[in-house]
Amino acid sequence: MRKQIAAANWKMNLTFQQGEKLLDDILDAEVKMADHQLTIFAVPYPYLLMTRSEVETDEQNYYVAAQNCYHKKSGAYTGEVSAEMLHSINIKYCVIGHSERREYFNETNATLAEKTDLCLANFITPIFCCGEPLSIREAGKQNEYVANQLKESLFHLPAEKAATLIIAYEPIWAIGTGKTATTEQAQEMHRYLRSVLAEKYGDITASEIPILYGGSVKAGNAAELFACPDVDGGLVGGASLVAGDFIAIMKALK
Ligand code: 13P
Repeated sequence: MRKQIAAANWKMNLTFQQGEKLLDDILDAEVKMADHQLTIFAVPYPYLLMTRSEVETDEQNYYVAAQNCYHKKSGAYTGEVSAEMLHSINIKYCVIGHSERREYFNETNATLAEKTDLCLANFITPIFCCGEPLSIREAGKQNEYVANQLKESLFHLPAEKAATLIIAYEPIWAIGTGKTATTEQAQEMHRYLRSVLAEKYGDITASEIPILYGGSVKAGNAAELFACPDVDGGLVGGASLVAGDFIAIMKALK
C-alpha cells in the first residue's frame, strides 16, 4: 500500500522554544501511525537536529524534513545548505520547489531538477512541490502547467528513482488563503498527475508515489480531502503550527 503522509511545513515560523513546545504537545498525544502512515515535520534548519532527536524513534514513523537545500554540491555559496550536509546529520526528507521558493527565490524547474538529483544522491527523499497560480487555473490550463513542472524537474529520473519520490500538489491560490481546493478539484488533479506519472513510468510506479495535497488543509477538512482515492495525505502550513489541529490532521490519514 502506498504511504499516507501528514507533513507539517512550519515555514519561517516559531522560535526554537515554541517549536520544542509544539512538538512536545504533538508527541504527548501519542498518535499511532499504521505501517503505511508517516508524519513528517519540515522545520527551519537550526531546528533539524532538535526535531530529529525528539521525533525519530523506531516505533512511530515520525520523521524530520528540511524545507530546502541548495542546487549545487558544495562550495562558495555563503548562507546555503547542501543536500550532503543534510545527509551528514541523517535527514531523510527535504521539501523541494515550494511555490514560495519558486516565487521569492526565483527557483526554476531546471534548478529543481538539480536539487532533486542531489537529494537522491544523498539518500534524501524529495517532497517535490508543484501547483498552479490562480491565473492559470482561471484559464483552465492547470493540468498542462503542473504536468510541465513534473516533466522538467523529474522526468530525467529512471523509474526506480521516481518510485521513491513524494509529490505535493499545492495550488498557489489555496496556500494560506483559507480557500481550499474542493475534494473534486483535488481528486481530479491528483488522478491526472498519477496518469502523467503512469504514462512516463508505468502504472505500478505511478501507483507507488504518494501525492499529497497542500493549501489550507485544516482539522475540519483533512478527512474529507484525504478520503479521495488519489490524495495520500497533506502538506500543511498554518494548521501545522497548532498542536490540536495538526493532531487532528494526523488522525485523518487513511
Ligand atoms: P497553508 O496550509 O498555510 O495554506 O500552507 C500550505 C503550504 O504551503 C504547505 O507547504
